[in-house]
Amino acid sequence: MIFTAIFTALVAFLASSAAATPLEKRVTVRDGTIASPTDGTVVSPGNSYAFQYNLINWCQAGYTSFDVYLLDNEPTAASMNTTQGFTDYVYYYGRYTVDNFPDGLPPMGTPPPSTLPMLDIGSSYDGQDIWLTVVQTELYCPPDGHTEYMLASNNMVYSA
Ligand SMILES: *[C@@H]1O[C@H](CO)[C@@H](O)[C@H](O)[C@H]1NC(C)=O
Repeated sequence: MIFTAIFTALVAFLASSAAATPLEKRVTVRDGTIASPTDGTVVSPGNSYAFQYNLINWCQAGYTSFDVYLLDNEPTAASMNTTQGFTDYVYYYGRYTVDNFPDGLPPMGTPPPSTLPMLDIGSSYDGQDIWLTVVQTELYCPPDGHTEYMLASNNMVYSA
């Protein structure tokens, strides 16, 4: 009986310390979720290019947000900062939000545009690769409510 009581107390202690642990944040690097621009798309200042990100709603969230950047290095999970963004970007387009259940939920945030403008980023980038990069945030993922980030990128060639 004493053994049972100790065992029960130990289980309760382990359960409470598990609950106090900060929820895990996981970064997943995926290929092929950016339908446009395709790899190797040539872009020039003053023009726009088609943009389509095919998100996978892993955590069955009502809304899914993602941030869109232009980077001058191929992004990896290791090159993200501690809040899963990129500190050294060439350009930040913004955060877009997709309503995953448009019949049942009110609109929220800015929907993703179908084209993005190519700004003048300077002649030093002429002929260089730049990476259109998407960081998708999935909140409240089961079973424990953790957050997952998905990183996808395609390269483009800048023609000044
Ligand atoms: C990470 O990068 C994002 C986007 O540039 C920025 O908003 C955020 O403050 C950065 N986080 C840190 C800890 O520097």
